[in-house]
Amino acid sequence: MLRNIHSLLLAITTLSSTITTPPPPCTFNPNTTIPEITAEQLLAAAPKICTTVTEECHPAAEAVRGINTAFANHGLTKLGQKAALLGLMALESVDFTFNVNSFPGRPGQGTKAMLSFPHIYHYAFSQPACTAEVLRISNGKFLNVTFSNMDTIPIMDQKAIRALVLPEKYTYAAASWYLRNKCQASVRERLAEGGFEGFKEYIGGCIFAGNVTSERLAKWCSAVKALKPEGMRAPGECD
Ligand SMILES: *[C@@H]1O[C@H](CO)[C@@H](O)[C@H](O)[C@H]1NC(C)=O
Ligand SMILES: *[C@@H]1O[C@H](CO)[C@@H](O)[C@H](O)[C@H]1NC(C)=O
Ligand SMILES: *[C@@H]1O[C@H](CO)[C@@H](O)[C@H](O)[C@H]1NC(C)=O
Repeated sequence: MLRNIHSLLLAITTLSSTITTPPPPCTFNPNTTIPEITAEQLLAAAPKICTTVTEECHPAAEAVRGINTAFANHGLTKLGQKAALLGLMALESVDFTFNVNSFPGRPGQGTKAMLSFPHIYHYAFSQPACTAEVLRISNGKFLNVTFSNMDTIPIMDQKAIRALVLPEKYTYAAASWYLRNKCQASVRERLAEGGFEGFKEYIGGCIFAGNVTSERLAKWCSAVKALKPEGMRAPGECD
């Protein structure tokens, strides 16, 4: 009798462990190389994007071309890298609808990454087709624009320099340019390999936006979910 109970318990234990053991999970791997982003994926990550061209916005089918070109030009191929930059741009530009800062309306701030004017200045200056015009606006001299001296530059000049990097070729590439030129090289690898931890380091240590807010986390999660291969789990932070 006792033996029977024992073997019954054993059978139950074996059965229940068979039932409750999940199939091997296809775990979240931000280091996965993913193909070009599709318009459908962009819509999933940035649902408020415009459906017709406006002064500041291109619909998903056009926007996605600019984003893919920028990622390719900067060698950004991994899920973690693309999701981080897509999530950042979606948050900063309100799902790609804005191209310049409207709240509170800082004159020199813009692009889909909403770069501040010191970065806008360096970005525009670094683009061969814009360098001469930046110099002309700056009275022939490269200005080392920083957060402490930016207010000495006339608003009209800030707007004129920002305007140089608002066309599609530049606005969608601003986040990629910033990652390459303003972040430590390790950040790029951490975005590919570190999952949410990598994103946190990028936001805190390179964007200087402090802790990842719930709003930022939601945008990152939407981007990851839109871009991850089918069957791959979303990161635990997004549950
Ligand atoms: C990430 O992928 C690269 C190859 O693309 C590989 O060399 C590297 O070891 C991977 N890193 C991790 C943490 O898996
Ligand atoms: C720009 O100014 C910063 C801060 O004053 C300084 O650290 C940096 O070396 C300067 N860069 C150039 C190119 O002059
Ligand atoms: C960020 O989060 C840490 C840990 O939760 C907290 O100690 C710190 O005060 C936060 N920093 C900011 C700027 O909110």
